[in-house]
Amino acid sequence: MLELVSTTAQEDSPPQEPSFGRHYDFVPPVQLSDYMVYTNGQPYEAYARMRENAPVCWCTEDEFSGFWALTRYEDIRAVELDTATFSSQRGGINMNYGPPETRHPLLNRAAFDNMICLDAPVHLQLRREHMPFFTASYVADLRKKVDAQVTKLLDDMAAKGPVLDLVENFSAELPLFTLSEILGIPEADRPKLVRWMHYLELAQDALTRDAVGEMDPAFMFEFLTNVQEMFDYGQSMLQARRAEPRNDLLSAIANAEVDGAPLPDEFLDGSWLLIVFAGNDTTRNSISGSMRLLSQFPDQKQRLIQDASLLPNFVHEAIRMVSPVIYMRRTATCDTEISGQRIAEGEKVLMYYGAANRDPSVFETPDQFDVARPNAKEHIAFGLGPHVCLGQRIANMQLEAAFAQILARFPEVVCNGDFKIAPSNFVHAISYLEVDLGKR
Ligand code: HEM
Repeated sequence: MLELVSTTAQEDSPPQEPSFGRHYDFVPPVQLSDYMVYTNGQPYEAYARMRENAPVCWCTEDEFSGFWALTRYEDIRAVELDTATFSSQRGGINMNYGPPETRHPLLNRAAFDNMICLDAPVHLQLRREHMPFFTASYVADLRKKVDAQVTKLLDDMAAKGPVLDLVENFSAELPLFTLSEILGIPEADRPKLVRWMHYLELAQDALTRDAVGEMDPAFMFEFLTNVQEMFDYGQSMLQARRAEPRNDLLSAIANAEVDGAPLPDEFLDGSWLLIVFAGNDTTRNSISGSMRLLSQFPDQKQRLIQDASLLPNFVHEAIRMVSPVIYMRRTATCDTEISGQRIAEGEKVLMYYGAANRDPSVFETPDQFDVARPNAKEHIAFGLGPHVCLGQRIANMQLEAAFAQILARFPEVVCNGDFKIAPSNFVHAISYLEVDLGKR
């Protein structure tokens, strides 16, 4: 029987000091747990100082136990690969799950009961069931539909433009389309997904403010209704696919077996939440982030326009620079050591991907956007090892399809400077990005 991570995961104790003390005597320049820190983009300067002074740096959290922040590429690589010592299951993959009074029972449960929070050997059993929908040949077939959708979205933008919000008109739409195709979601239901994503992104902020009575009750009602609707829809679709399987990812999840038994309902909710969230938000922010980079580095944009064969490498380089997932967490299963710092069993270790991807020992002049960078593909924005992002081919393909057409059709496209980044310490979430499409 598949164990529920939501009922077995380690709970955080109140603020504490690290068991074995600090090997590196350094106070982090920013509070990495504060989600407002990220509304100006990731704190790359702070990452660099931490990497130089304390690559394994103790960070505190207001009401939780504190954690070790890793900022060196090699250390993060080593932790990703040593899944016996650094567990995804023991405490989940988030820094913390919020104080009990801010937790939404169903969201909280589903955030744990899915494959990203499972360790070997059950993790691989569940991952294997998803794999046929992420192979190179499946993705190549999907590309045709994605290309057509890109054309449609750009037609709509051309009719509306030239100045518009790229997030609403493109970055949010394309990943939802692609995911709906893989999952097998009927076209009529797709707008609901857009709405649910909007509320999901506001969850951390809304639940925290509601707990202290600062949230508009009417908004909270809408929020709770939408979250419930999202889970009800997932359950009804998955149950329908159990009764009548088709050739889509929802059927694969619905009929997955672990140790010979079907997934419990809790894992159906969790798998639904994971795939909807992981497949959307990350790609959306990579598209918007790539557009910002092309505006900040106009010489690189020209280079790409002149030589379209650079597109695949541009995608790796853009994802390296954007690193849309800020961190993943692991929990030590035994006393251990990273780069001279002793870590005690049960302590939390967070891997800051944006820091690893700008580590100058791996990427020369790391803050320079270079569409021809020879080792751009070595970035670890998708993680590594057994949990490495299942959707990386899908994400790369969408970025390539998007920018092949955007640059061919709107070579003068540029960001006007107006943008918003939502408060989140987990995902670099660009919620608004004004672009001027220029002359066509
Ligand atoms: C640029 C876009 C994306 C980025 C940066 C990204 C990043 C990540 C990262 C960092 C992980 C965790 C790796 C680890 O713990 O070592 C992950 C896992 C995962 N991603 Fe992505 N992701 C992206 C797009 C997607 C897409 C498009 C999908 C699905 C269509 C997807 C589905 C998943 C799933 C299912 C997992 C869990 C895998 C497992 O636990 O075995 N991701 N992703």
